[in-house]
Amino acid sequence: MTIVSKDITKAVQILNNDDVVAIPTETVYGLAGNIYSERAIRKIFEIKQRPFFNPLIVHVHSLEKAEELVSEFPLKAKKLAKAFWPGALTLVLKKKANIPDIITAGKDTVAIRIPNHPVTLSLLKELPFPLAAPSANPFGFISPTKASHVEGYFKNSLSMVLEGGDCKKGIESTIIGFENNEPVLFRLGSISIEDICDVIGEVKIKNKKEIAPEAPGMLERHYAPKTKTYLVENIESFIQDFRNKKIGVIRFSETMNLSNIETLEVLSKSGDLNEAASKLYSTLHKLDALNLDMIVAEVFPDYGLGKSINDRLLRATK
Ligand code: TXA
Ligand code: MG
Repeated sequence: MTIVSKDITKAVQILNNDDVVAIPTETVYGLAGNIYSERAIRKIFEIKQRPFFNPLIVHVHSLEKAEELVSEFPLKAKKLAKAFWPGALTLVLKKKANIPDIITAGKDTVAIRIPNHPVTLSLLKELPFPLAAPSANPFGFISPTKASHVEGYFKNSLSMVLEGGDCKKGIESTIIGFENNEPVLFRLGSISIEDICDVIGEVKIKNKKEIAPEAPGMLERHYAPKTKTYLVENIESFIQDFRNKKIGVIRFSETMNLSNIETLEVLSKSGDLNEAASKLYSTLHKLDALNLDMIVAEVFPDYGLGKSINDRLLRATK
């Protein structure tokens, strides 16, 4: 049985005992453990059924703590850290030798971020070690943005979810790494690429083949509902071929005629991509529980967080 509770002291106890606690962040909930506890980290991989070649993100509460973990902090990485931390930015930097190989899948780099959530920042300040935390979903499933999503996934294998309310951003962090000191985008996420470029100028965007399996956020099938999902330009014409099916529809801002549709979810009536991003996963969770024949989503605008939403929806269709 999993306890869902706001008790930070209890979470500290469990983590000090080499065990795992699900923690809230502003992006998605994470499955957290002491980076120096092999037992805790193995448990994270085991209950998530995550392959060991897929490295974890390390969470700290201050820039100083991040600096203790890396051997190089390029100028552009510093600028990004100053602009966006605490926040939904993960930096992949050259690691110090004291970071266990199981965290980084044997790489010479480590992924780090300072999450922007008051509960988890308080927790991190009470712990003598950083927390490794992948998203708190079984490998390949939709990421959790509510404590109840995590509880639903790990009822039998997790002792505690630290309750922190609904995740405000709702999509994972944006991941930036460096090659020859130049910034490279590893994963689209909750901070738009336009906002990153405003701080450091041009960022190289790796194509999928170059990225995998370095950042398996880029693995093709990921974030997927159980229900067959489609991403289409024109919903009305697409669903004409499926007259007798139970269909759940996801749209950005406009409503539509409901005759052939079981459920319609409009992610932002006011046309705000941030609001739409924050509701994407909870909407997928909700539709996935309705025993629909299919989920049909419309392609979102290809700028700002629309790009990140399209990225996740495309993966949900695989
Ligand atoms: O918003 C988030 O980033 C959430 C919250 C909990 O912080 N965490 C998250 O973790 O999304 P996860 O494990 O689901 O995704 C981490 C991504 C993976 O795609 C992994 O391959 C990549 O980060 N990653 C980790 N270390 C890396 C490294 N050294 N080099 C390249 N990619 C790395
Ligand atoms: Mg994940």
